[in-house]
Amino acid sequence: MTGAGGAIGVFDSGVGGLTVLRALRSVLPQERFVYLGDTARLPYGTKSAASVVRYSLQCADALVARGIRCLVVACNTASASALDALRLRYPGIPVFGVIEPGAAAAVAVSRTRHIAVIGTEGTIGGGAYQAAIRRLDARVRVTALACSLFVAVAEEGWVEGPIAEAIARRYLEPIFCGGQSRAAACEVPDTLVLGCTHFPVLAAAVRAVLPDHVALVDSAATAAAAVARELPAAANPSGRGGLSWLAGVSWLATDGAARFARVSGIFLGEALRPEDVEIIDL
Ligand code: DGL
Repeated sequence: MTGAGGAIGVFDSGVGGLTVLRALRSVLPQERFVYLGDTARLPYGTKSAASVVRYSLQCADALVARGIRCLVVACNTASASALDALRLRYPGIPVFGVIEPGAAAAVAVSRTRHIAVIGTEGTIGGGAYQAAIRRLDARVRVTALACSLFVAVAEEGWVEGPIAEAIARRYLEPIFCGGQSRAAACEVPDTLVLGCTHFPVLAAAVRAVLPDHVALVDSAATAAAAVARELPAAANPSGRGGLSWLAGVSWLATDGAARFARVSGIFLGEALRPEDVEIIDL
């Protein structure tokens, strides 16, 4: 494990933010990262906005104490509720969320201006995506749906196969089944935003139940591009020699190192060892 000073701090309630970390790493290969999964308090998506703000500030405090130079909120639920509070607490540190980039990507992709967004109860109920999309284009119709069970399925590592597909079908068919009929096609969204960082690992299961014409958008790549655009290059880039890039990441979690390492391996496509994960108290 490397020290985290000068690193980019990334946090989520669990392993979902690893989809963002991966995207960050591909556009910023020289950077060092410190990743925090608040696994003790997962899920965030069913908690009140006040609790999510409190948890997010505590995550940020732990990362700032490790000397990070930039904070990426790799969680839509926390981005929806806590971005302003985080920016207020740390005016000297650039704080990036994932909702604005996801909304921008969806508006750029949609031809029919009917966009569906799925996320946690907190993200969907708070209307953050709906507002972000309409700020960009007020003519867009947004169909939004909370799909909370996807978070548990992703944390379990059941990212494809009949269980993931059955859950995807149960959630998404009411929105998309009309897409099979030509007459109803205009009523069906042509774009689906995966508005939770846990959801991209379920993309194959989601894709299996969608009409072919529907574009899938996740905010990981666009959020990473926004960070790369706005952040000055690291003064002290990581020197990992021939090691895997995972060795250049400091791994923190608030509970369950073995579980975190096991499921992270599925998200990252590379094994992480429990002994590489530091358990911290917030
Ligand atoms: N991955 C998070 C998100 O993007 C939170 C999932 C959860 O903890 O409910 O919303």
